[in-house]
Amino acid sequence: MSRQPSSPTLLTGIGELVTFDPQHDGPLGLVRDAALLTVDGRIEWTGPASRAPRGDADREVDAGGAAVIPGFVDSHTHLVFGGDRSAEFEARMAGQPYSAGGIRSTVAATRAASDDELRNRLTRFTAELRAQGTTTFEVKSGYGLTVADEERALRVAGEVTTETTFLGAHVVPAEYADDAAAYVDLVVGPMLDACAPHARWIDVFCETGAFDPEQSRRILTAGAARGLGVRVHASQLGPGEGILLAVELDAAAVDHCTYLTDTDVEALAASGTVAGLLPGVEFSTRRPYPDARRLLDAGVRVALASDCNPGSSFTSSLAFCIAVAVRDMGMTVAEALRAATLGGAESLRRDDVGHLRRGARADYVVLDAPSYVHLAYRPGVPLVAQTVIGGA
Ligand code: NIG
Ligand code: FE
Repeated sequence: MSRQPSSPTLLTGIGELVTFDPQHDGPLGLVRDAALLTVDGRIEWTGPASRAPRGDADREVDAGGAAVIPGFVDSHTHLVFGGDRSAEFEARMAGQPYSAGGIRSTVAATRAASDDELRNRLTRFTAELRAQGTTTFEVKSGYGLTVADEERALRVAGEVTTETTFLGAHVVPAEYADDAAAYVDLVVGPMLDACAPHARWIDVFCETGAFDPEQSRRILTAGAARGLGVRVHASQLGPGEGILLAVELDAAAVDHCTYLTDTDVEALAASGTVAGLLPGVEFSTRRPYPDARRLLDAGVRVALASDCNPGSSFTSSLAFCIAVAVRDMGMTVAEALRAATLGGAESLRRDDVGHLRRGARADYVVLDAPSYVHLAYRPGVPLVAQTVIGGA
């Protein structure tokens, strides 16, 4: 995975190419026996290898019949943290329930960690994501919950991604347990002042045990007034008002969506808000999966994301999420692949990633498989042969 700028390169011998380009076949924009030309880190041409513009390339690389897909776009992670919660996971698998309160133990460990500890860990996660085919990813703060610790998390996150999210409203920290209102004042005041310059997005965990709809509205509105895009965590542990709040505020994404009313689904379908589904959470908390079929049939745009975090979902593998979504959430393989690529891009309101149309960033994955279907057909198998970012 070298990151040098590349000369015009023709990747040929692609057994199956997924582009999401409407000029090619079906909803995936599929091309068989395909080639792909990249110039200056962008997609210049895709199509059948027999018609490839060979003269425009300085070099030709043979994919040997492999499938090629757009790089995964992971629209939801919490990768700046200290500590370890494997004991909590072990206890949960032995019957303990998951609760939002576990976040506080990671908060204590994150505050105690040095900048370099957080940075080194994030660097390792970045390599882990890339090795699994993720080429764009969002990172949230939310395990600092002081002005300095939240600002630090976003500064560190900004070293590896432009998709940084201020989640000071992840949970009310222990020192404010008796005065949540004072904590909300801190979040919309000095914390937002310190964090807004380092963030593209603002997010709130709108759930029983975290922030109620009124607190959430105040926090999200304050962030939006500072130019941050809106994202929401909602309906993870039970139904609530977070979905309708997200739609009302034109959030780019509302994530979890495990417990939805018909009104929620109708509102999402009529909105510009993407529903983010996070199967790693239900897997790792042993709870019912969200009903992706219901959302897709209603016309809701769906993203699949890892929610990689030490508490509820410590996987960074979108291939794993695809396999679960297909096996247990009613998605076809094609829908799940779309949700983990183009759907993630829509969730981040990005049009330059998540697809391989002309002009897109040349972010793609060569699979060690003849078809994208193997992502679900071969669960748990490392199928990413090569991750290419910006054509390099
Ligand atoms: O997305 N829902 C809130 N936040 C995380 C959980 C974080 C934790 O348990 O540490 C989530 O699942
Ligand atoms: Fe999350």
